[in-house]
Amino acid sequence: MQYKKLGSTGLDVSTICLGTMAFGRWIDEKASLSILDSAMEQGINFIDTANYYGKGQDTEIPYGTGESEEIIGRALKGRRDRVVLATKVGIRMGSGKNESGLSRAHIMKEVEKSLNRLQTDYIDLYQVHLFDHTTPLEETLRTLDDLVRSGKVRYIGCSNYAAWQIMKSHGISERMNLEKYASVQPQYNLLSREIEQELLPFCESEGVGVMVYSPLGRGMLSGKYYIAGDVPAESRAAKGERLIQNYFTPRNFELVREYREMAERNEVSLSQFALSWVLNQPAVTSAIVGASKVHHVTDAVKISDWRWTEDMLEEVNRLK
Ligand SMILES: NC(=O)c1ccc[n+]([C@@H]2O[C@H](COP(=O)([O-])OP(=O)(O)OC[C@H]3O[C@@H](n4cnc5c(N)ncnc54)[C@H](OP(=O)(O)O)[C@@H]3O)[C@@H](O)[C@H]2O)c1
Repeated sequence: MQYKKLGSTGLDVSTICLGTMAFGRWIDEKASLSILDSAMEQGINFIDTANYYGKGQDTEIPYGTGESEEIIGRALKGRRDRVVLATKVGIRMGSGKNESGLSRAHIMKEVEKSLNRLQTDYIDLYQVHLFDHTTPLEETLRTLDDLVRSGKVRYIGCSNYAAWQIMKSHGISERMNLEKYASVQPQYNLLSREIEQELLPFCESEGVGVMVYSPLGRGMLSGKYYIAGDVPAESRAAKGERLIQNYFTPRNFELVREYREMAERNEVSLSQFALSWVLNQPAVTSAIVGASKVHHVTDAVKISDWRWTEDMLEEVNRLK
């Protein structure tokens, strides 16, 4: 397993981060535990979750229900200190007022709930899940800074932020002497490369760690989708995930066919090819792999130190 510093911090994280959005949602506790055990055995020390992840995402309940954090909390008993645990706050967690967003009221309530579910007294990386246009950045940053100073949180990060939003936040942190966002969590894969325009150059220039989500396009680049409308029974598309549908465009199916051919020429699977491409981008610290089976983790770890030549990177860029 390879490790990198998270942005400008002194924290060592594995370049494969275990994504746990499936825990308690598409897979049960037993399957989740096998995946977590296997990841830790193979040297993965970085785990990503969110207060929001769990059953609520796919039911008529329009808010998060916390099962992923609960499962991780039980699974890490006695070995909590071996992992860098990242969670998130900001998406709706109840139907009432102040049950979403990045206000002091909501963050303070949710951090206690996350600590409780995770059965720990600190969160290594506490991330704001989405930009909140309705709360002053000063309020959010002051609250996160209080959490760092109290020891409940060690580092702070943001997710789904544009470069200007991080830049503005950093400016406020500097002016008010508050903790700065150490990392960002954007979507990034062979079919979704928008962050190359601004966010990645910005992060490289400013020393912001980049942990990318959906490196396999929610499964579109996993090798199980060939043509529109043909969804394998065991896939999460079949289990009701709506967001993967956005990937099912004629152009993407064409690209997947091209990438599959390149993967075959290099004697790796499409999922390994796609993941490895992400890991070969210098600005990327870690790729968050959304495993729903143990072999997903093993496949990822096996490919994690494959270094690409300039010619290979160029070949992919020609399809952009
Ligand atoms: N910050 C945010 O807003 C945000 C949003 C989304 C995700 N995330 C985080 O990022 C993590 C990863 O996201 P993601 O699940 O969308 O990532 P992904 O890696 O793009 O997709 C994961 C899916 O790909 C398939 N897969 C993975 N490895 C495979 C392999 N070796 N062979 C065959 N199929 C394979 C599985 O699909 P099947 O289950 O269908 O087999 C798996 O569920 C999440 O768990 C979460 O922690 C964050």
